[in-house]
Amino acid sequence: MSVTGKQITSTLTADGLLTVELADHTFPDPTGHEVLVKIEGAPINPSDLALLFGPADLANATYAPGKVVAHMPEPAMRAMAVRVGHSLTVGNEGAGTVIAAGDDAYAQTLIGKRVSFVSGRMYASHALVDARGCLVLGDDISAEQGAGAFVNPLTVLGFVETMRAEGFNGLIHTAAASNLGQMLVKLCQAEGVPLVNVVRSAEQVALLKAIGAEHVVNSSDVDFMGQLTEAIAATGAYLAYDAIGGGRMAGTLLAAMEQVASKGIPYSPYGSNVMKKVYAYGMLDLSPTVINRSFGFAWSVGGWLLTPFLAKAGMEGQARLSAQVLSGLTTTFASHYKAKISLEEMLTRDVAMAYNAKATGEKFLVVPS
Ligand SMILES: NC(=O)c1ccc[n+]([C@@H]2O[C@H](COP(=O)([O-])OP(=O)(O)OC[C@H]3O[C@@H](n4cnc5c(N)ncnc54)[C@H](OP(=O)(O)O)[C@@H]3O)[C@@H](O)[C@H]2O)c1
Repeated sequence: MSVTGKQITSTLTADGLLTVELADHTFPDPTGHEVLVKIEGAPINPSDLALLFGPADLANATYAPGKVVAHMPEPAMRAMAVRVGHSLTVGNEGAGTVIAAGDDAYAQTLIGKRVSFVSGRMYASHALVDARGCLVLGDDISAEQGAGAFVNPLTVLGFVETMRAEGFNGLIHTAAASNLGQMLVKLCQAEGVPLVNVVRSAEQVALLKAIGAEHVVNSSDVDFMGQLTEAIAATGAYLAYDAIGGGRMAGTLLAAMEQVASKGIPYSPYGSNVMKKVYAYGMLDLSPTVINRSFGFAWSVGGWLLTPFLAKAGMEGQARLSAQVLSGLTTTFASHYKAKISLEEMLTRDVAMAYNAKATGEKFLVVPS
């Protein structure tokens, strides 16, 4: 018996108009390994916003009940050519209760259980997902607590695993007061990993200090470079994860690392031999990445994304990391939400402008039912 519910889609047309719409949707009966989940919570993360709205002009969009129509800036149209004309579902992760299952024996055992999962279709009343990818939440974990069990928790675990695999001994993290940044502070404390947190306001310094961060530097302070080099010297952190992506931050981090690495060694125009690395893992700033090569030749800048990391970890690695997340869902990996909103509210002007700002402590949870 199929179920009729609702689903949000995002469609960009060749004339540069983005339509984000909530419409009725029929969810078919699950078969085989599939389960049908009634969604009870789905966070709005920056990665969801990149697909839902991208850089579309939300301030001047038209808003009708269940529908937003916004203009996409011309330069962005070129980068988004492949999505033109396609109606895309949105929402990477969430939690809910299994209401039906295919005939697979394991899928059947999940009926009535609360699960967390990744699907790319979470801004909806229901989702049809593979039972084998579900994280079964205990009775003591609410849908709100379980909704963000994948994206940010697995990313911070991935940061630390990547650091160890590549032979680094400490981390620098930017936009560090983010939801993810707060998890990283707690994880690094638990694992004894030295961490330098880069934030951009005094309030964010206070926030991270309050949860126990030792090294927090403020990029808005005039002596930012001094604070940064001091923290790198204290931690030996030569691997940075940069959520900002655009602008001068990546180059500044490499320059600060080299200042510390070259201290006390004979001068060479080629710099020190200490390897310095920045992974851009976010795109909070969409402007070009500016690198002034003032740090010799032992450096690299690359991209880091959760999905290829998980693919490399394999089924066994993913199961191990998910078990670690599950055991820390209400502590290390807890997410905090500014507000809970319905699917309908999600497409109203003030609410959309608020969650699209991606401000510190302002993550929203979509509660469809
Ligand atoms: N690569 C991956 O696989 C992966 C996986 C998960 C998450 N991510 C990325 O991780 C980042 C954090 O995610 P989240 O869910 O934790 O975000 P969040 O809680 O919404 O926090 C966003 C943070 O970014 C700051 N920020 C926004 N624009 C900025 C800018 N231009 N320069 C400096 N700081 C800025 C905000 O500070 P203000 O209050 O000062 O604006 C806020 O602290 C996002 O960029 C996301 O895309 C990437």
